[in-house]
Formats: sequence, structure tokens, C-alpha cells
Amino acid sequence: MSKTILITGGAGFIAHHVVDKILSTTDWSIVTLDRLDFSGNLNRLKEVVDKYPESDKKRVKVVHHDLKAQLNPEICATIGRVDYISHLAAGSHVDRSISYPLEFVMDNMVGTAHILDYARKLDHLENFAYFSTDEIFGPAPNGINYKENDRYNSTNPYSATKAGAEELVVAFENTYGLPSFITHTMNVFGERQNPEKYIPMVIKKVRDNQTVTVHANSEKTIAGSRHYIHAEDVADALMFLYNYDISSIKADNTGAKCQKFNIVGKNEINNLELAEFIAKTQNKELNYDMVDFHSQRPGHDLRYALDGSKMANMGWTPHSAFERLTKTINWTLKNNRWLSI
Ligand SMILES: NC(=O)c1ccc[n+]([C@@H]2O[C@H](COP(=O)([O-])OP(=O)(O)OC[C@H]3O[C@@H](n4cnc5c(N)ncnc54)[C@H](O)[C@@H]3O)[C@@H](O)[C@H]2O)c1
Repeated sequence: MSKTILITGGAGFIAHHVVDKILSTTDWSIVTLDRLDFSGNLNRLKEVVDKYPESDKKRVKVVHHDLKAQLNPEICATIGRVDYISHLAAGSHVDRSISYPLEFVMDNMVGTAHILDYARKLDHLENFAYFSTDEIFGPAPNGINYKENDRYNSTNPYSATKAGAEELVVAFENTYGLPSFITHTMNVFGERQNPEKYIPMVIKKVRDNQTVTVHANSEKTIAGSRHYIHAEDVADALMFLYNYDISSIKADNTGAKCQKFNIVGKNEINNLELAEFIAKTQNKELNYDMVDFHSQRPGHDLRYALDGSKMANMGWTPHSAFERLTKTINWTLKNNRWLSI
């Protein structure tokens, strides 16, 4: 019998790449659940699903629900039987979380509690995957790459609510035996990303000959850096984990049972280097200002970094971010409607 996956936040940026990956590599049915707020866009989902023949399009069902509310019997009946859950629905914009922290508690913590409570009552669930973030560890000093079970150190409400929800997943596995795992994903980029995010914003500013703001240290000498990863690589890592016998992995020295996996981009790239790469790909000069954003604005960290050795030892590695960046920049310039939403 073919499997069914429920993807929350299905109209969001990463989730629509996950939908694409599942349609192209499996015969699974997909139920996407989303409340369609400003960052959820059904056109995103439609564009990827439309690439497929009618028989595949029928494999995708769209359910409208806001996870701030419990899943009532009608919603559960509409979703139907589920074998896997990927929980991606979340408030994801850090600046918004600084202005509206309680919204993030509701969407990210209460929303996660609701989907977990639904999941624990399912009869056939094989795995629940929760998409967390490197930001739960806070800023990484040079030379430090956080491991999966390192301590939390949230520097903004977004990270704190992602860490809180992560701990709920751990508790549901320990309390109810819910089969689950957690991923820590780094800065993700790709086609159809919200233009408020750094990479599409720089593509647009360079195209329009505007000045790019590069976040830097207080002396304005060192630009912030991230390990960027393409959303397709993230989707690939997720499928790798669903196909892996996670129960065979022994607890590490912390003794924690619920498995966590860092999904790390291949290259650590500083934001100036990245903006220069985007300008070069467009054959343009980069106009930029280095700004001491991190000490002026709370909640913004100069460097995040994760240790990717666990996934590498299991046999999964990402593609080069630069190859994927070139593809994403060229695609975005051709499909420039995604720069003006
Ligand atoms: N983008 C990144 O770089 C990154 C990095 C690490 C982790 N993550 C995590 O991955 C997940 C997806 O990120 P994204 O960048 O695709 O985000 P996104 O903002 O593009 O998508 C989030 C989706 O969740 C939906 N949503 C939000 N609150 C909801 C609620 N209460 N009920 C139902 N739907 C709701 C939104 O409508 C949207 O479609 C998030 O959980 C995020 O924390 C993202």
C-alpha cells in the first residue's frame, strides 16, 4: 500500500521543495496543511505540482487549517490515514518574532503541541519529523560548530519557540513512544523564497542597482556568516532520514533517546562574499554598506554553525552551495514575479 505523508506548512518555502522531492522520487500521497498566512503561498505549491502529469497531481491534497487550534474530527477525517508527518509550519521571520513574540509562542509552540497530540493518537504513524533550526544554539564563536545535543541558547523569540517546540517533540517520544526525529537546518535558499530573505533580497537589489546592506561586526570589518544550503538538499536529507533505520542509532554520550540531525550546508559563506557572488553572476558591480546590525538590533547573531559529521558518517552529504546558488540566481531572474510578492 502506498504511503501518505502529512506536511504542515505545505505552502511555505522549504515544504514546497519537499513536495517536489516526494512527487519525483516516491509514489506517496501528500496532504499539505497550512493556514496560508503572508509567507504561505499556494501558487508556490501549484507551480511545482503543475510540472507533473495528472496522475501525480491527484496525489496532492491541500487542507486549510491554523494549528493554533486543535485538529477537530472533521479535519482529521479530511486528512485521512497518515504514515509520516513532516512538521514545518511555523512563524519563521526572526524580526517579526521580536515585534510579536506571543504570536510565535502560539504558532510554534502551541501549534506544535496540537500536531503532536494529533500524531500520538494515530495508529500507523512510522515517523514524525520536526524541522528545527541552528538558531536554537545561538551565536557560534569562531571554531565552534554545535553538535546535535548541545545546549540551547536562544537570542530571539523565534529561536526560543523553536527550541521549546523541539523539547515537546522529545517529551512526546519519551512519554508516549511517538516515533520521531528532529532536524537542525541551516540557512536555506532556493527557488520561490520570500523576497524578505537575504538571498532573494540581494538578487533584487543588485538587479536594480541598489545598495546592499551587509551585516557585520561592530568594527564593520567582518561580515556575518552562515552555512547556506539549498532547499532541495534539505528535502533530500529528509528522505534519507525517512529511509534510514533510526532505531539502530545508539544514544550519544548525553543519553538522549530522541534523535536529532544537523543538516548542514557544504560551504560556510560570509554575507559579503555571498553578495559579491550574486553580483558577479549578474555581471554587475556590487554596491554595499557594512552595517553593525548585531549590536544595534537585538536577536541577530554574527555567526551560526553546526557540526555535520553525524549525517556525513551515516552517508549523507549536501551539494556545493555555490553550484546551487548559480542555478537559483538565474532561475529567480527569469521568474522575477517571485521577487515582487
Ligand atoms: N528557511 C530557513 O532557512 C530555515 C532554517 C531552519 C529551520 N527552518 C524551519 O523550517 C520550517 C519551514 O521554514 P520556511 O522558511 O519554509 O518557512 P515559511 O515561512 O516559508 O513557511 C512556513 C509555513 O507555515 C505556515 N504556518 C505558519 N504558522 C501556521 C499555523 N499556525 N498553522 C498552519 N500553518 C502555519 C505558513 O503559512 C507558511 O506556509 C520552519 O519550521 C522553520 O522554522 C527554516
